[in-house]
Amino acid sequence: MTRKIETSRVIVVTGGTRGIGASISKMMHKFGYKVAATYMGNDEAAKEFKEKTGIEAVFKFDVGDFAACEKGIAKIEAKLGPIDILVNNAGITRDSFLHKMTPEKWNDVIRTNLNSVFNMSRLTVEGMRSRGFGRIISISSINGLSGAMGQTNYAAAKSGIIGFSKSLALEVAGKGVTVNVIAPGYIETDMVRAIAPEILEKIVSKIPVKKLGTTRAIARLVAFLVDDDNQFTTGATFNVNGGQYLA
Ligand code: CAA
Repeated sequence: MTRKIETSRVIVVTGGTRGIGASISKMMHKFGYKVAATYMGNDEAAKEFKEKTGIEAVFKFDVGDFAACEKGIAKIEAKLGPIDILVNNAGITRDSFLHKMTPEKWNDVIRTNLNSVFNMSRLTVEGMRSRGFGRIISISSINGLSGAMGQTNYAAAKSGIIGFSKSLALEVAGKGVTVNVIAPGYIETDMVRAIAPEILEKIVSKIPVKKLGTTRAIARLVAFLVDDDNQFTTGATFNVNGGQYLA
């Protein structure tokens, strides 16, 4: 079911051209929102995304870099208008047991997965506050709640997002801005497909629904949270994990 919503809202999805982000971008585009998708690494995927979806507003910048975000957001707003909705989705893994983890692997993940949430939220929240409307959704992970072998860096960033969002939710609660977190479990994405098959098999065997989740399941929840009517859900973390971790 795709329903067109009467809206002129502008939504930015970081990491919005692949995986969960692409699904969010596409669904929101179908629903009638003005979508900007950002990406960093994969030019080929971004080109294909643009051609297939007809979403023109695709911007390449590093969400881990505050100055790059400032420039990127200025370009988005020049093209689409003020940003009403931010989805902090961009994320990477650099898995390693801690006893072998390099400072680079630690820093890369904290910068891309957590500093990005500060950068993008900091640069959009003032506008949202002043206009009396905003939605900020950040994509955490089951592993930010449960912990995961080989992911001290990733889990630290993903649980950091939750504390950040609860605090910001309190700050902006009286300003028409809601702030929420989605914590997906193992979803059919390139990130999950990159796990060694024998390890992925062990992981899937522990998911009560016995399969990976779809990216559309996450996009659906985003659509619910960003709706103009939904002004009472804030500071919450939504687990979408097939029953793998019940928080
Ligand atoms: N579950 C169960 N067992 C695991 C495991 C896991 N998640 N991760 C590692 N192990 C086990 C291995 O099977 C192996 O067991 P044996 O000694 O019995 O063979 C043991 O731990 C050591 O593992 P490796 O031989 O692979 O050790 P390594 O140093 O070469 O690599 C690692 C370590 C980088 C952590 C690698 O095992 C790995 O990539 N594990 C998967 C990590 C993971 O789950 N990443 C999630 C990515 S998806 C994601 O992050 C999206 C999201 O939000 C959910």
